[in-house]
Amino acid sequence: MQTKHFNNQNEDIKAAAELLRAGEVVAFPTETVYGLGADATNEEAVKKVFAAKGRPADNPLIMTVGDEEQIEPFVMVTNQARKLMADFWPGSLTMILPIKEGMVSMLVTGGLQTAAIRMPKNEPTRELIRQAGFPIVGPSANTSGKPSPTTAAHVKHDMAGKIAGILDDGPTQIGVESTVIDLTASVPTILRTGAVTEEELSRSLGQTVVDGTSKKALAADQTPKAPGMKYRHYAPDKDVLVFDPLDWFDLQEKLGPADAVMADEALLSELKNKEQPSWSLGESLEQASENLFAGLRYFDDDKTVDTIYVQSMPEIGLGKAYNNRLAKASGGRLFQGPASE
Ligand code: TXA
Ligand code: MG
Repeated sequence: MQTKHFNNQNEDIKAAAELLRAGEVVAFPTETVYGLGADATNEEAVKKVFAAKGRPADNPLIMTVGDEEQIEPFVMVTNQARKLMADFWPGSLTMILPIKEGMVSMLVTGGLQTAAIRMPKNEPTRELIRQAGFPIVGPSANTSGKPSPTTAAHVKHDMAGKIAGILDDGPTQIGVESTVIDLTASVPTILRTGAVTEEELSRSLGQTVVDGTSKKALAADQTPKAPGMKYRHYAPDKDVLVFDPLDWFDLQEKLGPADAVMADEALLSELKNKEQPSWSLGESLEQASENLFAGLRYFDDDKTVDTIYVQSMPEIGLGKAYNNRLAKASGGRLFQGPASE
């Protein structure tokens, strides 16, 4: 199959929507990462998404909508959901809601009686979904287990020949996937950290929100509630090790020519060996999240590199999502310097 490249212009969006209506798979941009779109109401189309990603069938998919009205036939929109939509949509928040009986394919929900709903902050994509006329499933557009794509080129790398088209709207802004909140639990519970934080959610709802991804919550209950969080994820083929910025000088002593470093501008300005393969994480938590997956993918394709050392970030705000994705990419492996001992 030849994968068509579409720009964010009206005619291209229209052509991409036609492919979706014909039951084909089209990758789409969002503010977080690129997704793999297909008609959520057409099981044959949804099966193509699982096949293209190589995704396990028990891992449910997000239903992605262009407008709030598009979700009404499928899920029960609770008062809590209405509050969160008003405050965070369009944006990086995915809500788990009870489905209306028989209205959502079990292929989409992974057999659950709940569904994940999201309205991304990307105009071409919202227009694409409006023109298609149905919600589209929207898992990240990477091969299952690989880092999520933040550019159309990343999508092409993983999906060329496997999907009908890619809608290109340039690089994504946030760089890590949306926050997932479960509104079907007795207390609203975060299943995946992202750009919308626990504090913001609890302020919007006027009640406590549980971070189900915290070490404490995971120790109490070993089964991750978002089925997707139990798989090895975001991982390049190379070895990835996380380092504490306080260990930067000790780390530099150990670096060889096949080692790459991903660090912020402040650390890189103190890189002693200017030949060392390096990738800048920028100057803020926002920039670090934006650049993380692109750096992992870059060194994954660099044959001269064996090991990638990536700087950890403070566990605040977007830093939680950044550290969470990095922990998964590294399989929890740390560079053991004095600061981490
Ligand atoms: O930012 C994002 O959310 C991106 C962009 C493309 O929109 N999409 C994305 O989709 O990350 P995906 O499929 O890679 O991640 C969806 C997560 C998975 O961890 C999945 O297990 C969980 O949401 N999920 C989906 N439906 C669920 C449900 N009914 N109950 C619990 N977790 C669910
Ligand atoms: Mg994913």
